[in-house]
Amino acid sequence: MSWLWTSEAMIAAMGGRPIGTLPEGITGISIDSRSVGPGEAFFAIKGDRVDGHDYASLAIAGGASLIVVSESKLPALGRLTIPMIVVEDVLVALGKLAVASRERSGARIVAVTGSVGKTTTKEMLRQALAPSGKVHAAVASFNNHWGVPLTLARMPADTAFGVFEVGMNHAGEIRPLVKMVRPHVAIITTIAAAHLGHFKDLEEIAAAKAEIFEGIEPGGAAILNRDNAYFDLLAAQAQAVGVSHICSFGQHAKADFRLADFEGGPEGSIIWAVLNGETTEVHIGAPGRHVAENAMAVLGAALLIGADMGPAGAALAGVKAVKGRGERHRLGIGEGHLTLIDESYNANPASMRAAIGLLAAATPELTGRRIAVLGDMLEMGEFSQQVHEDLAGPLLAAGIEHVWLAGAEMTALRDALPDSVEVAYFDTTAELLDHVVNSVIPGDVLMVKSSLGLGFGKIVAALIDNYPPFADTDHQS
Ligand SMILES: Nc1ncnc2c1ncn2[C@@H]1O[C@H](COP(=O)(O)OP(=O)(O)O)[C@@H](O)[C@H]1O
Ligand SMILES: [Mg+2]
Repeated sequence: MSWLWTSEAMIAAMGGRPIGTLPEGITGISIDSRSVGPGEAFFAIKGDRVDGHDYASLAIAGGASLIVVSESKLPALGRLTIPMIVVEDVLVALGKLAVASRERSGARIVAVTGSVGKTTTKEMLRQALAPSGKVHAAVASFNNHWGVPLTLARMPADTAFGVFEVGMNHAGEIRPLVKMVRPHVAIITTIAAAHLGHFKDLEEIAAAKAEIFEGIEPGGAAILNRDNAYFDLLAAQAQAVGVSHICSFGQHAKADFRLADFEGGPEGSIIWAVLNGETTEVHIGAPGRHVAENAMAVLGAALLIGADMGPAGAALAGVKAVKGRGERHRLGIGEGHLTLIDESYNANPASMRAAIGLLAAATPELTGRRIAVLGDMLEMGEFSQQVHEDLAGPLLAAGIEHVWLAGAEMTALRDALPDSVEVAYFDTTAELLDHVVNSVIPGDVLMVKSSLGLGFGKIVAALIDNYPPFADTDHQS
């Protein structure tokens, strides 16, 4: 049996007091009683909404062989007979295990941050690096104060490549996380107005992302977006903290990893990538110029950490749009079909523009229409009205003639659109959902996007429910 951690190594890393006869080792780590597997350790951390200590018995029922709990909660757990490691603070203990994991690892490590595109980039890295060795990468977005240490602590000792997403909503959040991850290569995908309400301006967002440089290993590299307005500022920050290699990607003539040409299709794109003076044609299995831009950062990182570049490029053809981030569905309606572009996972001004680009590039059939189904972008603070109004520009430029909206903030976009656009506005997601389900016709292409808080996933689910998916997905439009 090869353990993720022996109990002995866990105690050495975390400290803590063992109770009962600990197993020799654990096969995995879970913080969610619903997904804990047999032989895994359950760490009872306080998550975003619940405290894991309340779920300890469910975790045991799920097969956990060991639980890590806090001293202060021990009296309440008195009846449990499972082996435990009792620590002062469970999240701190997980962090210590994460640090020990990084210390024992011989893996080449990539960290990805940025205002948008982190998960997409991380998933592409997972695929691109796989032909070169064993990859460990975060589940879902797992990029915060518990997601990063959990992902690190879960990294098997024999990992060849580790890929980490590092996120933030506020200044100061990236610094402690990247110091655990200690990447050889750190990517900043782009700087844009996400969580803008928590900042004074975009420059402050850039400064917060720049914290990622402070954790880069000696001799390591930063990969920056050459087309972004904050490139110079970020490069200067990287230099200021002593990052030895500052590289860039993008369409800019001076980019080290240059996107020389882009041919976009509804299913994916073909790019011409220039790396080390050599041009390669690369097929990407998910559509959108923004995905191609992320792919350039991926190829650059693969090159810097010594992956086999032929297979890395070839692997990008197998990339699929992630759920809620551009995933496509072809749904049956009458004799025809609908195309649904699911962007329901989240929205900010940058990702809205990228998704409008996806809609513009899709081709309706028959008498179908291009329809943007949009909800509020949250966390925009005092900038909210402006950034919602400003979506009128890209929608008009893309020739989108049908815009269906819900949410208090979207009144600003409703009022900003001219009469030439068919606008339907609803106060609530539920009303918009009814309208969408009842108004679609064969040949329509819908792009559904909003901040998570609006619950636009329900619109996607209702469409899939009412209009059964086509088995044949080879001829999506
Ligand atoms: N480089 C990019 N530029 C602009 N928008 C992007 C980019 N990459 C992804 N997006 C958009 O952002 C959305 C979220 O992408 P994701 O990779 O999940 O970002 P993150 O993990 O940073 O939140 C996608 O659905 C897409 O609309
Ligand atoms: Mg993410």
